[in-house]
This record gives sequence, C-alpha cells and structure tokens, in this order.
Amino acid sequence: MCTPNDTPSPNVKKALAKRIFYNIATLRKAYAEEKLYRLVPGSPFLPSELSDCYRIFLKNTSRDLHKWHHYFPVYHRHFEKYRNRPVKIIEVGVSRGGSLKLWKAYFGPQAEIHGIDIKESCLRFHRPEEGIHVHIGDQADRAFLRDVLRQCPAPDIFIDDGGHTTRQQIVTFLECYPHISERGVYLCEDVHANACEKFIDSRMTFLEFAKNHIDFLYAWYSNSRNAFYPYLCKNPPSVEIPLLTAITRSLHFYDSIVVFERGKVCMPRSEIR
Ligand SMILES: C[S@@+](CC[C@H](N)C(=O)[O-])C[C@H]1O[C@@H](n2cnc3c(N)ncnc32)[C@H](O)[C@@H]1O
Repeated sequence: MCTPNDTPSPNVKKALAKRIFYNIATLRKAYAEEKLYRLVPGSPFLPSELSDCYRIFLKNTSRDLHKWHHYFPVYHRHFEKYRNRPVKIIEVGVSRGGSLKLWKAYFGPQAEIHGIDIKESCLRFHRPEEGIHVHIGDQADRAFLRDVLRQCPAPDIFIDDGGHTTRQQIVTFLECYPHISERGVYLCEDVHANACEKFIDSRMTFLEFAKNHIDFLYAWYSNSRNAFYPYLCKNPPSVEIPLLTAITRSLHFYDSIVVFERGKVCMPRSEIR
C-alpha cells in the first residue's frame, strides 16, 4: 500500500506517469480481436445536460472560475440532493474565489462553505456573514486539515481541487474521508494530473490508490471459500473488515474525477425465498 511520505525516484515518476498509457496498451493487446478503438473528431466536449450548476458557470463573466465543462454533469449527479438544505461543504483550492461563489449560488443560502488554500491572499474571500469561510494552510499538513474539520465537522461534501500532486490528493483523502458525514460525498478532481511527472510525488498515484479501493468493497468475500456462504445463514460469524469497507457505499470513476460516496454499510445477507 502507498506510504504517502515516500518520494519516488525520477525513473519511478516516469513509469507512474505512463501508467494510464501502459494499462491501455495492455488492454489493447489482450483484446486485440475486439473493436475497442475508434477515431474521435477533434471537437471540444460540451455537456448535453444543462444543469443549474452548469448554467451558473456559463453565466459567470468575472473570470474567477476555472472548471472543465465535462465536470458539471458529475457535480450535478452527486450534489443535487443537497441543494437548498443546510449542507456543509469543504473545498480545497480557492484561487480567485469563483468556485466558492458557484457553490453558494448552486446550493442556496443555507449552505456553509469552507475553502482551503495555501495562499494568504485568498483570505479576501472570507465572508462568514454569507456562510463562506476561508482557511489558509497546506492540504498535505494533516494537523491543519484536522483543525479545519474541527471548525466544520462532518461536512456533507468534500472537494479536492487544490495543488493536484499525488501526495496531496492521497494525504487529504486519508485524513478527511473518514470524517465526512455518514452519507457524504468525497470528490477529487483534475486526477489527470496523475499522468504528468510534475505532479507525481508519491510512490503510487491517487488514481491507482483509488482503483485499489474497489477491492475494499469486496472485502467481505476475501476469506470465504464459497463467496455465497456465510451470508446465506441467519447468524453469520463476525468478520474483520477494513474501515473503508464499512463506510463506503460506492466509488465512481469519471474522466479526471473520482468520487467516493459514503454510507453505512452492513454485512451483506443473501437469502433464498
Ligand atoms: C485549481 S486552483 C482552484 C480553482 C478553484 N477551485 C476554481 O474552481 O476556480 C488550485 C488552488 O489550490 C491552491 N493550492 C496549491 N497547493 C496547495 C496546498 N498544498 N494546499 C492548499 N491549497 C493549495 C492554489 O493556491 C490554487 O489557488
């Protein structure tokens, strides 16, 4: 498993940056007979769905918001249920303040929004009277993150749009994910940065780290010889499972975004009726 403090050698960095292309090439070889490739015309992507979130972005003319167009259907899919409620949001990466404004407009007046940035100048967006709070610090500093979580306990939504290095993304996830609300959403964006050596500073990329977590969803079945037993009996024996298995409902992989959805996960039970 990844130890976020390890610094990779230049050769390891190079290999990690090529991981996506390597995996694609391996699949291409393994499924050579399948028609898995096609030529895509060079036209920019525009989401077909015009959500309120996307509308707010398109109407913004202040040049303080930098987002990829294809992120908007993902935001709307995972965030819509929190609109017009007393939702608590933490976003790493304030920059020019545009996303703080976007979230306020999208989620409504009851939303409490906490932005994190390493740049002191972002304090100019701190407006507690409007429910917008700015915290200055490094997202790779776990003590700092704990302090923010003390001020905004159990956030419903956590967005990592900060420095985008692999170590920052992994450390922030490890520290914050277990502390978001029981049904909360953790969204890490710009994960394509993992394909760029400049952003690789751990021995595993965030994308590979997240992919490994798919296995955590299946931890229940790792010790049984028959995958259906013991979940067929009324009093199954206790099993030790990873914390992530107990608190994660689902993982979602999109182009450049990984979403973890929390939920109270019970021991699975199968039944013949
Ligand atoms: C991509 S911008 C955020 C964009 C903003 N969310 C938006 O949608 O317009 C990234 C921000 O992360 C901040 N940042 C970089 N490294 C950081 C770190 N280690 N901890 C916290 N913030 C960091 C940068 O100062 C920058 O303002």
